[in-house]
Amino acid sequence: MEKIHLNLNHVFKFINKEEYNSLKNKALEFNKEINNPEGKYKGYTGWNDLPETTSEDFLNEIQNTVEELKKRVDLLIVVGIGGSYLGAKAVISALAGNFDQPKVIFAGINLSEEYLVELTEYLNDKKFGICVISKSGTTTEPAISFRVLKSLLIKTVGQDEAIKRIVAVTDKEKGALVKMSQKLGFKTFVIPDDIGGRFSVLTPVGLLPIAFAGFDIKKLMTGANLMLKNSKNEVLFDENLAAQYAVARNILLQKGYLIEILANYNPKLHFFAEWWKQLYGESEGKEGKGIYPASVDFTSDLHSMGQYVQDGPRLLFETIFNIQKHPEKIIISEEDENLDGLNYLNGKSLEYVNQKALEGTLEAHLSGGVPNIIIDIPEINENTIGQLIYFFEKACGISAMFIDVHPFIQPGVEAYKSNMFRLLGK
Ligand code: PA5
Repeated sequence: MEKIHLNLNHVFKFINKEEYNSLKNKALEFNKEINNPEGKYKGYTGWNDLPETTSEDFLNEIQNTVEELKKRVDLLIVVGIGGSYLGAKAVISALAGNFDQPKVIFAGINLSEEYLVELTEYLNDKKFGICVISKSGTTTEPAISFRVLKSLLIKTVGQDEAIKRIVAVTDKEKGALVKMSQKLGFKTFVIPDDIGGRFSVLTPVGLLPIAFAGFDIKKLMTGANLMLKNSKNEVLFDENLAAQYAVARNILLQKGYLIEILANYNPKLHFFAEWWKQLYGESEGKEGKGIYPASVDFTSDLHSMGQYVQDGPRLLFETIFNIQKHPEKIIISEEDENLDGLNYLNGKSLEYVNQKALEGTLEAHLSGGVPNIIIDIPEINENTIGQLIYFFEKACGISAMFIDVHPFIQPGVEAYKSNMFRLLGK
C-alpha cells in the first residue's frame, strides 16, 4: 500500500531543528491523550478509532442500503451542512471525474432560495432519493431544504415510495430529525454521540454518500487505518506524521505565521481543502487563538492570489499537495510554424509542465519568505484519501492542544444562529 509522505525540509529554512525537537515529546503526549478514550477529551474522540472499530458488517449495511436505493433512484440529494456535508463532498470531488454526471448532489448547504428553486427544477425529470444528514437534527439550512425536497418527492412519487427513497443520518435520540424518521419510517443511521460533525466523515455521514457515488468505502477505511496505526502510542515521533505536522505548524504559529494556505495543483482537491478548513478553523479558532486556514487552487490562483503570497505581509505558510502519479495522457507535440511558441515543450506531458509550475512556485515562495510543508500523495484514490483524512484529523487534535484550546467543541458557531432566530421570531 502506497503511503502519503510528509516533507518538512523547506520548513527548516524558517525554524531551527532544536525548536522542533523540543516539542516532540509534547506532541506525543497530546497524541496519547487523544488516543485515550477515558482521557481529557472523553466523550469527544469516538472518531479516533473508527477505522479499526467499524465492522465489515456495518460497511456492508451501508453498501446494501445504497444498493437498495439504487434500485429506485438514479440520483441522491444529500441534505446537510458543515460537518454533515464537507467530508462527503471532499471525497467525492477528489475521486470523481471532473466532468462526470453527478450521482450525488448536495443541498441544505446555504439559505439561497435561487439554489433550491434551481435544484427543484433540475429534479423535475429525475428519479431521485434523499439522504438527510444532521447530527443535531435541528440545523436550519438542511431542515428547510429537506422540508421542500421531501414534499416534492412525496408529490412526485407518493408517500409510500418517498419513504423508501429517504435515508436519515442523525443522533440516536435528540432532535427533530430522529423523531420525524421514527414517525415516518425512514431508514436511519446513527451518528455516535462522541463524534463531532467535522470529524464524522468516516461514519455514515460521509460513507453513505461516498458509497452512493460509486467509491469503495472499505478502501477508504483501510487507508484511514494505516494512518491510525501510524499514530498509535508506541509509534516513534519520527514515524508519526500527524505529530510531525502538528509540531511544524505550531512552531510556525509561534513565529508569527498566522495563516496556513493549503494549496493543490489539481482541482479535484479543491473541496478537500474546504473540508480541511472547517476541520482546523472550527477546532482551533477559539479564545483569540488559532492558525487561520485558507486555501488556493494552483496554478489558477497564482494568477489572482500569487502576488499576495509572494509579496504581501509575511504571515503566511503553505502546505502543498504534491500528487506523484498522473495519467500523463496529454503530450505536447511540435508544430511546424510554432505560432504559439510552445515547441520547446515538445514531447513533454501537461503534468510535467504542472510539476515544473509546482517546483518553480515553491522556489519563488520560499525565497519570498513563505515556509512550505509538502504532502506527497502517491496518487489520488480511496486509500490515499482515507490516509489524508485520518492524518489531518489526528494532527488537528494535537495542534489544538498545542495552543491549549478544546479541539472538539464549537461554541462560536452558535452566535449567528441565535441572532438569526431572534430576527426570524423563533
Ligand atoms: O462541525 C460541526 O459541528 C458543525 O459544522 C456541524 O457539522 C454543522 O453545524 C451541521 O450541524 P448538524 O449536523 O447538527 O446539522
